[in-house]
Amino acid sequence: MVTHTMTNRTILTETHGRVGLIRLNRPAQLNALNDELMDALGAALLAFDGNADVGAILVTGSDKAFAAGADIAVMADWTYMDVYQGGFITRNWETIRQVRKPVIAAVAGYAMGGGCELALACDIIVAAESAKFALPEIKLAMLPGAGGTQRLPRAVGKAKAMDMCLSARVLSAQEADRYGLVSRVVPDAELQNTALKLATQIAGYSLPALMAIKESVNRAHESSLSEGILFERRELHARFASSDAHEGMQAFLGKRQPVFQHR
Ligand code: HXC
Repeated sequence: MVTHTMTNRTILTETHGRVGLIRLNRPAQLNALNDELMDALGAALLAFDGNADVGAILVTGSDKAFAAGADIAVMADWTYMDVYQGGFITRNWETIRQVRKPVIAAVAGYAMGGGCELALACDIIVAAESAKFALPEIKLAMLPGAGGTQRLPRAVGKAKAMDMCLSARVLSAQEADRYGLVSRVVPDAELQNTALKLATQIAGYSLPALMAIKESVNRAHESSLSEGILFERRELHARFASSDAHEGMQAFLGKRQPVFQHR
C-alpha cells in the first residue's frame, strides 16, 4: 500500500508499508540542492526517524539525476560571512547524521558534488546502471564540503578519492561498484523495485537491532579498532535485553517465522 503523506515543491514523501520514501523533486535543476530542499529533506528524515511505523528510509531522485550537487545558482553570490554565520552545510545538510534508522539511497543518473556527498551520507547505495558519481567541485575552484573529502576515502581508499576530488573524474555505476562506493548495481528499470524490496526486507527486521548495527558499523569509521570492538561487544550484550532477540532465536529453534515487536 502506498500512502502519500507530504508533498511540497522540493521533495515528495510516501510510505510503503514500513518504508518511508523521500524523492528529491527539483527536476528542472537536476535536483540541485538548495536550502529549501535540504530543510525539507532534513524535516522528512527526522519525521520518518520518529515514526514508530517506519523501519527504514529510502532516498531517491529522478531517472536523470539523484542530485547534481549544491545549487550553484544560489551559491554564486554568497560571501564568506554568509556561509560562516549561516552555518552552510552544518545547519541543515548534516541532519542526516542524526537519523538512527537505516537510510538507503537509490541513485540513477547524476550524483555529483553535494549529490554524491548526500548519497555517501546514506547507509547503503543502490545504483542504477546510468548512475554517475563525481565530486567535480574543483572545476568551480571549490571543495567537496559536505563530508566528501572524508567519506569518499573511507569508502574507496585514498588513491581513488584523490583522483576523483583532484581531477573531477566521473565514475560509472560499474566502477563505483568495483571500488566499493555502492553496494549494488541494477538495470535502471529495476532500481525502484530493487531498492524498495531491499528497504522492505530491512524494515521487517527488529528496529533496535538495526539501530545497534548501524551505530556499530559507523564506529568503524569514528573510533579506533579496540574502541569499536568494545562498542560492538556492548551492543551485542544489550541484544540480550531485547525481547525481539529472544523471539528471533526461539523462532529459529521452533522452525517458524519470528514476530518482532521492535522492542
Ligand atoms: C544549479 C544546476 C546544477 C547545480 C544542473 N543545474 N546542475 N543548477 N546547481 N549543481 C541546472 C542547469 O543549470 C540547467 O538549468 C539544468 O539544471 C539542466 O542541466 P544541464 O547542464 O543543461 O544538463 P546536462 O547537459 O545534462 O548536464 C548535466 C550535468 C551538469 C553534467 C550534471 O548540469 C553539471 O555539470 N552540473 C553541475 C555539477 C556540479 O558541478 N556539481 C557540484 C556543485 S558544487 P537551465 O536553467 O540551464 O535549464 C557542490 C558543492 C558542494 O555540490 C559543497 C558543499 C555541499
